[in-house]
Amino acid sequence: MTTNDHVVDDELQTVTLTLNGKARTVAVPAHRTLLDGLREEAGLPGTKSCCAEGECGACTVLLDGKAVNSCLVLCVEAEGHEVTTVEGLSADGLTDLQEEFLNAGAVQCGFCIPGQVVSAEYLLRNNPSPDEAEIREALSGNLCRCAGYQRIVAAVQATAVRRAAQ
Ligand code: FES
Ligand code: FES
Repeated sequence: MTTNDHVVDDELQTVTLTLNGKARTVAVPAHRTLLDGLREEAGLPGTKSCCAEGECGACTVLLDGKAVNSCLVLCVEAEGHEVTTVEGLSADGLTDLQEEFLNAGAVQCGFCIPGQVVSAEYLLRNNPSPDEAEIREALSGNLCRCAGYQRIVAAVQATAVRRAAQ
């Protein structure tokens, strides 16, 4: 059962977007968020739902290549746009960044990690050699209730070094 089961068809909006590199159409009520559309209609649970008000970063995805909180974007606003979730980043297996999260022991309960990974990937794509302050700033919108920040920063630093060596 999805959240749309109680909604008659003519109340649904059809949204066509490029999702993780493939054309995809989902049908959602106009008030539903991109986060809802991804998790409940597109079947992509990697993007986490937590505060639902833009405070925690658990729902971070790339929208046209830019990191956004998907709980603050209406699904209909993604019409014609490109969305990449954590599943899309790791379509070919764990990325180097995800491997470094594991190597650094940065994953505790894991709930915040998809959002952390997407935000860190966005940082590294735009600033391949960030210093610690830049990493902390870039991830400042991603809260970790397990408080594993030092290891998360270390994972991003290790990824930057690894990519620079390639
Ligand atoms: S669930 Fe979107 S920022 Fe918290
Ligand atoms: S690892 Fe548990 S919230 Fe971050």
